[in-house]
Amino acid sequence: MNDRLTLYHGDSSELLKNIPDNQIDFILTDPPYNLGPYSTGNMKFGWRSDINNDLAEWDGKFDPADYKDEFLRILKPSGNLFSFCSYNMLGRWHEVFDPLFDTFQYFIWHKTNPVPKFRKAGFLNSCEMIVCMWNKGHTWNFGKQSEMHNHFECPICMGLERVKEPKHPTQKPLKLLKYLIGIASNENNLVLDPFMGVGSTGVAAMELNRRFIGIELDKEYFKAAQKRLKID
Ligand SMILES: C[S@@+](CC[C@H](N)C(=O)[O-])C[C@H]1O[C@@H](n2cnc3c(N)ncnc32)[C@H](O)[C@@H]1O
Repeated sequence: MNDRLTLYHGDSSELLKNIPDNQIDFILTDPPYNLGPYSTGNMKFGWRSDINNDLAEWDGKFDPADYKDEFLRILKPSGNLFSFCSYNMLGRWHEVFDPLFDTFQYFIWHKTNPVPKFRKAGFLNSCEMIVCMWNKGHTWNFGKQSEMHNHFECPICMGLERVKEPKHPTQKPLKLLKYLIGIASNENNLVLDPFMGVGSTGVAAMELNRRFIGIELDKEYFKAAQKRLKID
């Protein structure tokens, strides 16, 4: 912990209660996808290693409604709330949060290098959705009209950026996170990720001179986030 960065290991539904009212400028988060029931598991091939199918033990039950009261309590009136959202959760996010915010939009991340479909059956899963919510008077750094389309293109997290130990199946790329943080917050603002995984939102926030609070349930991911953020 330092005065710009605080990481908590544990369940965010409990730990959020430690954050005082009206503290957070920007919640940028990536909760469990609840895709476990639809998954057929990692893809197996005789001629190459398994391909990760975004399946993880933690990808169980997440209901945005359980976080509604705490998110509203800790978010400043000028704050923004953005969350990665799997296709199966869009209706639930809209049902719960649209009545609570002036604006509810969606944003698409187009992955330029999605996992290939070797069996050539169906579309590639090359898009991910991010639901975006705010009230009037929110922080918004609008660029040129041509830069403000509700989509962004970049590769999935690769190479040196990808944490090797432990591997996190859904580690998000810093390029995308920095783009979102740059639009929806200002320098020295406090950014929160209550499902931080290996700390990608925190790294992006630090690189843009924001402050950050991150929470992660899994001990190994938490330790990897501490290491990336150079904190013990
Ligand atoms: C989709 S991943 C986030 C990945 C992250 N964006 C990254 O780049 O590393 C969701 C994370 O939420 C964590 N998680 C699940 N339930 C949680 C809870 N109740 N409190 C805190 N973290 C939780 C999981 O362990 C997992 O690492």
